[in-house]
Amino acid sequence: MIISLVAAVDSKNGIGLNGKMPWGHIREDMEFFRGLTTGSTVIMGRVTFDSLGNKPLPNRRNIVISSTANVKYYFKYNNLFYESSLENALLRLLNEEQIFIIGGESIYKKAIDYADRIFLTHIDKDYHCDRFFPNVDANIFRKEELKNFEYNSIDVKICQYTRILWS
Ligand SMILES: NC(=O)c1ccc[n+]([C@@H]2O[C@H](COP(=O)([O-])OP(=O)(O)OC[C@H]3O[C@@H](n4cnc5c(N)ncnc54)[C@H](OP(=O)(O)O)[C@@H]3O)[C@@H](O)[C@H]2O)c1
Repeated sequence: MIISLVAAVDSKNGIGLNGKMPWGHIREDMEFFRGLTTGSTVIMGRVTFDSLGNKPLPNRRNIVISSTANVKYYFKYNNLFYESSLENALLRLLNEEQIFIIGGESIYKKAIDYADRIFLTHIDKDYHCDRFFPNVDANIFRKEELKNFEYNSIDVKICQYTRILWS
């Protein structure tokens, strides 16, 4: 199983502010994210699921990590599942070819230890976030730039980090 983390980060590694991504919709990034994850399984924390309006992402199996499964949403969608921890979710998905972990901070912090790949969209501005992506150790992950563009005159780079060392 290939485990990938996917996130957009600001110049201070910030990922969210007041439960949302403060930069709004970056079309190229959303297209990249959709292309990468469509047809696969995505895992996210309950707060991130709230930030999606409590709707699973279409054309993907969505697994929400929470101490309490919310039956109201669970019975509404056939692509939404709950797990009580990241580890339980990963164990249940061992036969999957690849899975994508899509946030937020609490889930990234744990999942980085299991990550084979990390896709980070770097947005070169400080949005004074209150949630952050963990440090990516350059001795453990090799960086490769995939795409570079401007969003509202801000430089944006999509990079892939591939694990070269298991510690
Ligand atoms: N920039 C990006 O790419 C990106 C991507 C995703 C999210 N975000 C941002 O990240 C922020 C959310 O991050 P966050 O850290 O506050 O929340 P989160 O990781 O999305 O969700 C936290 C929740 O997940 C559940 N959880 C986490 N670990 C658990 C465990 N071991 N066992 C059981 N349940 C567990 C708990 O849900 P319960 O309380 O239900 O038990 C916990 O309250 C938001 O601002 C969001 O916009 C940014």
